[in-house]
Amino acid sequence: MKKRIYIAGGSKGGVGKSIQSVALIDTLGSRREKVLLIESDTSNPDVFKMYSGEVQTELIDLDDANGWIDLVNVCDQNPDHVVVVNTAARNNRGVTAYGQTLNSTLKELQRELVTLWVINRQRDSLELLRDYMEALPGSRTHVVRNSYFGDERKFELYNGSQIRKTVEDAGGRSLTLPDLADRVSDDLYSNRLSIAKAMEQLPLGNRAELGRWRADVHTMLGVVLNA
Ligand SMILES: Nc1ncnc2c1ncn2[C@@H]1O[C@H](COP(=O)(O)OP(=O)(O)O)[C@@H](O)[C@H]1O
Ligand SMILES: [Mg+2]
Repeated sequence: MKKRIYIAGGSKGGVGKSIQSVALIDTLGSRREKVLLIESDTSNPDVFKMYSGEVQTELIDLDDANGWIDLVNVCDQNPDHVVVVNTAARNNRGVTAYGQTLNSTLKELQRELVTLWVINRQRDSLELLRDYMEALPGSRTHVVRNSYFGDERKFELYNGSQIRKTVEDAGGRSLTLPDLADRVSDDLYSNRLSIAKAMEQLPLGNRAELGRWRADVHTMLGVVLNA
């Protein structure tokens, strides 16, 4: 098998897709993996801006059939890079229409597709997940409760849901993304800093908080990367 393709999904705006992508790129970097970031949020390419100086990047619009062709070709041309796709809000439309382009080529690409589906505590996060799993059945899909929205146990709708059973029966996991203090996440976004850059530039207290979050993230994602 070649290196994996990871999609940071969630479909809705503001659920934490970008910060999940950041967490993943940083974790892969700590394992000395070569990373190729596909930024598909062309209207707000925040992860692209944070990481274009550090990893190979491509801006690709996945609302469009051409974008899915480009995605497959870029994956094919960079077999030694782990691919991380940061998605935009409303991408389910693109996935439903064109996801088959990727799904049908996974075998020939010799890559596993793994999705980290980020949720908040609302019901539509789960309904969108169901649609996504139907559109991209070739993906192993894990659910990420973003603890920015509350503790793991507050995700009652998900924790007790049928979709959770469906995810876990298919080998997916239910994970929890740690919450980073607002002022530090604001530092990252406003100054367009990668985690590594922020660990050089921020004041000591901010770096200590970022270091705590980073270590928790590496532990949480280690489960996914090793599976
Ligand atoms: N785990 C988290 N820790 C700290 N801040 C978070 C976290 N998740 C989300 N946020 C905040 O919420 C905002 C939206 O998150 P983002 O990852 O950009 O969402 P999306 O990409 O899904 O639109 C971010 O700017 C950040 O301030
Ligand atoms: Mg985003």
